[in-house]
Amino acid sequence: MISNPIAFYIFVWLAGCCIFSVYLLSILKLNHTIMRIPDITIAVDGYSSTGKSTLARLIAQHFDFLYLDSGAMYRGVTLFAQEQGLIAPDNTIDPALEAALEGLDLHFAPGTILHMGERNIEKEIRTMEVSSQVSPIAAVPYVRAWVDRRLHDFAASGRVVMDGRDIGTTVFPNAEIKIFMTARPEVRAQRRFDELVSKGESPVFEEVMKNLQERDYIDSHRETSPLRRAEDAFVLDNSEMGFTDEIAWAEGLIRGKFGLLDAPDAIA
Ligand code: DC
Repeated sequence: MISNPIAFYIFVWLAGCCIFSVYLLSILKLNHTIMRIPDITIAVDGYSSTGKSTLARLIAQHFDFLYLDSGAMYRGVTLFAQEQGLIAPDNTIDPALEAALEGLDLHFAPGTILHMGERNIEKEIRTMEVSSQVSPIAAVPYVRAWVDRRLHDFAASGRVVMDGRDIGTTVFPNAEIKIFMTARPEVRAQRRFDELVSKGESPVFEEVMKNLQERDYIDSHRETSPLRRAEDAFVLDNSEMGFTDEIAWAEGLIRGKFGLLDAPDAIA
């Protein structure tokens, strides 16, 4: 015990200095890392509900990147087609959609919140109604070309992390870092189910699983730009991982790429 009050104050002061120095050093180390990372593109592709957007957001926050969600763009086009009556319940798409797209304004507000004109459509594009028709819409070549043009415009400057299905293979084949995410189907379906419940929906687990499998199938088998792993992508199976493990993995990958740390042994 420290009985002398002066010694006690000196002790508290020294302890405070130590804690503050450790805090300062960790900030400086992170800033140093951020400053040494050049303007690059990181592509995060993978199956539905593997947590691509969560990882991409974490990377964006952690390393000061702009985050772009390409799936949101396909969802936005789907909502638009539904509202304009250009897609039937049997997924038949009216060819008038191609011309109609020229008048469509989809863009991200800060925080990667998708807007259709002035309208925030972030909630509407995540419903089962949109999920059930987005893959047929995303398989249409002129829709893909339209979305790709927008993505390139949005990513014109700076460091960008973008998630989707074909970012590392088609949209940004020269992306400096490519990540391909996967997880067991039942884990993915549970995540999606929980997400829908947290948003106030009442999903049926079997339907969520069916929708997931259907989307995986359509996304992987379409003619234009199918979902597949780029040969130079690092594979991340996060079935048993939490957010902290994932960001540590990504940090290792990014630092390793720029010689800031040993690269993880991640290519499958
Ligand atoms: O990531 P997500 O579930 O929000 O994507 C919605 C749909 O959009 C998905 O079923 C496939 C499609 N998509 C695509 O074809 N290409 C991309 N780059 C991103 C998404």
